[in-house]
Amino acid sequence: MWRIVKLIIFIVFGCTSLCTCATQFTLNFIYSTNKVVVTDRYYALEYSIYRDGERLQTVSLGTGMGGFIKSRKTPRGFVLFGRGDEIEFAIEVDEQRYSQLSISRKNIAKPVTDCVELSSKEGVNWYGGNEQRWQDYPIQKLVHKHNSYVTKEEFNQAIAERYWFNSHGIYFYVDLDAPLFIDQNNEQIDFMCLIAKRALPYDIYHSRFDFTYHIGIGLNARDVHMKAIEKFLGKPSGHPDEAMVREPIWSTWARYKADVNETVVRTFANEILSFGFKGQFELDDDWEKCYGALEFRESKFPNIKNLTDWLHSTGMRVTLWIHPFINKNCSDWYDTAKNAKYFVADHSGNTDTQWWNSKRGEAAYIDFTKPVAANWFYNRLNQLRKDSGIDSYKFDAGESSWTPPDPVLNGTHRQHPSKIVQDYVRTVSMFGPLVEVRAAQNTQDLPIFVRMIDKDTRWNLNNGLPTLITTLLQMNLVGYPFVLPDMIGGNGYDNNPPNKEIFVRWLQANVFMPSLQFSYVPWDFDTEVVQLALKYVALHAEWTKLIMERFDLAVSTGAPVNPPIWWIAPKDKIAQTISDEFLLGEKILVAPVVVEGAIKRDIYLPAGIWYDPNLDITYDVAEGRWLNDYSAPLDVLPYFIKN
Ligand SMILES: *[C@@H]1O[C@H](CO)[C@@H](O)[C@H](O)[C@H]1NC(C)=O
Ligand SMILES: *[C@@H]1O[C@H](CO)[C@@H](O)[C@H](O)[C@H]1NC(C)=O
Ligand SMILES: *[C@@H]1O[C@H](CO)[C@@H](O)[C@H](O)[C@H]1NC(C)=O
Ligand SMILES: *[C@@H]1O[C@H](CO)[C@@H](O)[C@H](O)[C@H]1NC(C)=O
Repeated sequence: MWRIVKLIIFIVFGCTSLCTCATQFTLNFIYSTNKVVVTDRYYALEYSIYRDGERLQTVSLGTGMGGFIKSRKTPRGFVLFGRGDEIEFAIEVDEQRYSQLSISRKNIAKPVTDCVELSSKEGVNWYGGNEQRWQDYPIQKLVHKHNSYVTKEEFNQAIAERYWFNSHGIYFYVDLDAPLFIDQNNEQIDFMCLIAKRALPYDIYHSRFDFTYHIGIGLNARDVHMKAIEKFLGKPSGHPDEAMVREPIWSTWARYKADVNETVVRTFANEILSFGFKGQFELDDDWEKCYGALEFRESKFPNIKNLTDWLHSTGMRVTLWIHPFINKNCSDWYDTAKNAKYFVADHSGNTDTQWWNSKRGEAAYIDFTKPVAANWFYNRLNQLRKDSGIDSYKFDAGESSWTPPDPVLNGTHRQHPSKIVQDYVRTVSMFGPLVEVRAAQNTQDLPIFVRMIDKDTRWNLNNGLPTLITTLLQMNLVGYPFVLPDMIGGNGYDNNPPNKEIFVRWLQANVFMPSLQFSYVPWDFDTEVVQLALKYVALHAEWTKLIMERFDLAVSTGAPVNPPIWWIAPKDKIAQTISDEFLLGEKILVAPVVVEGAIKRDIYLPAGIWYDPNLDITYDVAEGRWLNDYSAPLDVLPYFIKN
């Protein structure tokens, strides 16, 4: 609890040295050696965060008050003001192992830019941020060009948590009501600038906005991340069903794309079973009468209940692909929703939008911020589930970018446009623990899988195989531990299906992640691939108990299920940068081969006693150790079990 009587704030005026005459304002924490010093250099205003007298972080403050600053004390800190600008610094938590402050501007009209120094030269590593197509890791290398920090189709930015933290043990968390843009390594190299301004896709109909962010200062990255979960990110209220973990998911998507019908389903299911597999059958696009009908097209599926009954009789569950749009040419349903005002409209009342299964302006997005529209959608799906025997749903899309460009949503203008994402995801999560979504924003509390956006069948960081790992880490490090990896081998877009090598490497990389999702199938390659797939599916099942233990831990503490390897060695500078290894809990270290043609790789083991099941060797590692040229031909997945 905040104990105001114990608080002493030193506000120091005056020059710190003769040659750099500058005014300083200091926020001292009582229970730690942490402090935050704001320096007015007349031409620029900045603040630095210190621990034990060492400067850990500097941030330049955008303001028009440089050189004319006045200050006044507040119960928890101080306010700097001048020339009509005002910034409040306030201590929020003051503990021995953790300090937290907020920096806020309220009711401002002009754009503001605060630039966080990334200090990559000093070897600080940064984590968190958004899901994206070019998923580099650690994230200080990324480039953002005035990126509107909302969930959107562009850049595969389906998750955009306003949360970044570093290996010094410092995080930044920006409140959701700030109209935030990110500019990183663009106008200023080695800086991540937080820009708040009134511009689309945020609300532009009110002249004023708030810009508040919080800084946590902990002992190291792990420590401070757990604090961020407690204070801001939140933890899940439950976890996905073990059934989706233990056995694979078989989707029709990558293998058949939209060419599905009853015959295809039966043929696919029979193949799965005949090769000795089982699990969840996922009927993807295109099964509807028309997009948005939520009824089966009888020419493709003459008797769906009969089909799901049969799938159930083979021991498989059945799930169905769902999107939140209605196309204009799906007129019975479109007209009903349009007349009832169930679509997201812009300020002129226009509801036209576009998605990947419509032409421009030929579809509309159901407005989940209106409870009646959300209920209408929910009730139709619930009825469909009853009538068809479908067990659950895969929910696609959901990013706020699918609305018309300046939507009128039912919420305060400060929640634009993120509210639509949250309300969509919250509505569909009511279908329970077999649900998957792919968009997320401030929804870490939901007990459902969040899927990685469609991966591409290639070997590079441009959404290819290496990003299966870096996206896994990114999602875990912004509070989404229930990660559903995308399809094994990638989606094979542009007539580029996976070859044997990338399929096997992808499968291996996936084994210690929460769920295995096939669409391309092992028997389309050769019998060796079938044998390997059976082996890895069994290995995944063998470790399902540990995955579920970590799911439970995520529910009780918010801890990641698949952390990066520095999680168990936060001070280890090498571990902090490893992007092609990951952990399952704190027990298994996985180092899959993700490089084309490679039959060996270098593996970094942080301190610990590690058992290598492939070679039956134990390594007693005192301070971190490289295993160079570890042999890993196509049938070897390097992994290590910690004692
Ligand atoms: C089902 O789809 C397959 C593949 O597109 C096609 O060859 C077959 O004729 C279809 N069957 C029926 C009954 O429509
Ligand atoms: C249901 O499917 C089975 C095959 O699983 C078939 O033999 C049967 O005729 C079907 N019944 C109906 C009513 O379509
Ligand atoms: C509706 O439009 C979509 C996308 O343009 C098209 O693929 C589909 O065939 C159309 N459906 C009907 C029933 O006209
Ligand atoms: C907007 O949301 C509130 C709260 O959920 C609800 O009471 C109200 O009816 C909604 N308005 C519309 C137009 O749906």
